[in-house]
Amino acid sequence: MYVIWNGNNPVVILSKPKIIENTIVNGMKDGSLIRSEQLRKAWNDITSPILLGEIGTEWQWRRKAWNPEFSSSSLSKYVEMISLACEQVIETLKEAAPPKEVEVDPLFVELTMRVISCLVLGIPADRNSTSHEGPPLEVLKLYEAMSILGYRFLRQATGEKIWMKYLPTKNSRDYWAARRCLEEFLTPRVDLALRLGEQNKTDLLQVSPLFQESMLVKIAAKEPKYNRETLIAESVELLIAGTDTTAHTLSFAVGELSLNKRVFQQARDIVDSSWQSFGCINTESLKELAYIRAIIKETLRLYSVASGSTSLETQRDTVIEGQVIPRGTRISWSMLAAGRDPEIYANPEEFLPERWLDKSKETSSLPMIDFGSGPHRCLGEHLSMLEATMMLALLLHYFDWDLVNGRSSLEQLQQNLLIYPSDKMPVRFRLRNSLTSNLEPMSKG
Ligand code: HEM
Repeated sequence: MYVIWNGNNPVVILSKPKIIENTIVNGMKDGSLIRSEQLRKAWNDITSPILLGEIGTEWQWRRKAWNPEFSSSSLSKYVEMISLACEQVIETLKEAAPPKEVEVDPLFVELTMRVISCLVLGIPADRNSTSHEGPPLEVLKLYEAMSILGYRFLRQATGEKIWMKYLPTKNSRDYWAARRCLEEFLTPRVDLALRLGEQNKTDLLQVSPLFQESMLVKIAAKEPKYNRETLIAESVELLIAGTDTTAHTLSFAVGELSLNKRVFQQARDIVDSSWQSFGCINTESLKELAYIRAIIKETLRLYSVASGSTSLETQRDTVIEGQVIPRGTRISWSMLAAGRDPEIYANPEEFLPERWLDKSKETSSLPMIDFGSGPHRCLGEHLSMLEATMMLALLLHYFDWDLVNGRSSLEQLQQNLLIYPSDKMPVRFRLRNSLTSNLEPMSKG
């Protein structure tokens, strides 16, 4: 535990996994810790109130509406769609081979944005399909808008006043343009979802089945408290939360695999053996990929992309690890430090996915705090694990690779809202020897 100073305000930083977990879970349960007001305001002012910024009953009804949609059983129906989105990444890499340098981070950003947009907004994951319910998904344009909103969140979280968005500055103009861009993309879809939830649907027969099945339509129908404004805000939240997080994690996993040949080979053997049985990655073959999931957990342990993104505040004088922390103190935590705690993770600097696998079951008893702790624990954890597992398995099936910049890609990290590789992780891919002589058609998952 240590203290940093934000102006005259102390921020207590926790850096041990179990202390972080217990402090958040117990503190939020007994009311001694609440989500920091400054951060809540910053989240809620990205557009309007969202899960990340709300507490109490305002948070509860939102979370209750979304939870079932993101459960692992609900997500299993999207396996085929996610597989299609991952195969598009493979196609792009095949087009780039033989050994060309490809920055993988933007490729994974496109993947994750397509997946979350398909689930939430019913936009086909296939980049060649169009969506009739609203403007097309323009990945770069939306990503730019999301980055601007994320940057504004950071400025607010560190002290900029909310009213400053009304000043005639470049930052303000960028902010309003980014909001407009996202609202133009989302409003027709949100309005349609709300109309579909109403009684008379006869004029809506031409709406695509994918949109009718989207989470947006389901949420609009089941939770009457959602209206145009709150659904747009939640969709922006899900787009932001569901894109960079998994994308950067995938980039770090690709980097670590390239530097750890033993782990690479073991992962490949497992993927090959599963591929032999099923001929693709599907719901059944995923059951055999516990080692790939362990690789993602191990990646998150070392590169906890959301480290430092949250903080709480003491509601009263509170004892943490024997220290009295005065009322009103901000408490934050470093998941990056926690993941390297030698008392919990033996050989913390080594990439050892095995540590996450107990012999008897898939999960170990090690703390896994990278998706958060307590009630606000990540809504998209299962989705993230699913898409990252499928993407890594497909990469291992099709390619050998190495890092253009070697280990420095994993050492030159940057942080804005999240931690990311500053060079975007350039990689040299080579189609596997066994595949170059006998190019197989892409399988249907
Ligand atoms: C590697 C991938 C991911 C990581 C490391 C991650 C991490 C986190 C963390 C640490 C929190 C807690 C934040 C807090 O307490 O303030 C969180 C919350 C959240 N995450 Fe994720 N996340 C990931 C992927 C996703 C995805 C794919 C989605 C898409 C649905 C998502 C949606 C959310 C939402 C909506 C919340 C807020 C939950 C609430 O406040 O009730 N995340 N995530």
